[in-house]
Amino acid sequence: MTLQDHPESALFLTFEGIDFCGKSTQIARFYQRLLTLVPDALMLRDPGSNTLSEKIRRILLDPKQTGLHAWTELLLYEAARAQMVQEQILPALQQKQLVICDRFYDSTTAYQGYGRRLDLQKVETANRLGSCGLKPDLTFYIDLEPEIALLRKGKSHRVLDRLEQEGLEFQHRVRNGYLQIAGQEADRFLLIDGNRSIEEIQATIWQLFEPIWWSRRS
Ligand code: TMP
Repeated sequence: MTLQDHPESALFLTFEGIDFCGKSTQIARFYQRLLTLVPDALMLRDPGSNTLSEKIRRILLDPKQTGLHAWTELLLYEAARAQMVQEQILPALQQKQLVICDRFYDSTTAYQGYGRRLDLQKVETANRLGSCGLKPDLTFYIDLEPEIALLRKGKSHRVLDRLEQEGLEFQHRVRNGYLQIAGQEADRFLLIDGNRSIEEIQATIWQLFEPIWWSRRS
């Protein structure tokens, strides 16, 4: 199923950004506000959101999981995604629900394609398989310089996961990947300045979202 196939009023939104860009805060706030407008909206995270995909997530993010080959990493992300798409996203869209997801295949393009430097065409093919052909209708990409994200990372008191432990250079390549996507798919992939305050970013996301929501309903 693709955007063209799922019911008109169903909507699939994703959030993207490098580690510590503020994405988790924004998606949580957006979802709280969204529920006042769309009480049955569904929030998911990739990788994760169901028993199997959460197990795969634990392997992927485990800092002790050393020696994971980049291709294995890519395929595990795709496997977790395929399960979530089939088990949760497609049934919800068919019921005309609104689905928001914390990350989706753009993360794979940015992290495994640009970050790990895997062949981009092969990553795209894997993405099509992992997402079962489903594309986000709209993606909110929170853009932040890796140096600023690094400062935020330094203030974090929790143990960093396997991907978060990658260095600044890796985060630069990932950000560059996101900026390439933003250049290629400007209509879908909306770039939001992550340097602004939490409230300003929240307001911008809502201003971008609301007209689209109402246009789908009319
Ligand atoms: P999260 O902490 O934002 O939920 O994301 C988990 C980590 O996994 C984050 O560092 C980004 C990374 N990731 C990939 O490398 N490839 C992917 O396809 C996805 C979805 C996430």
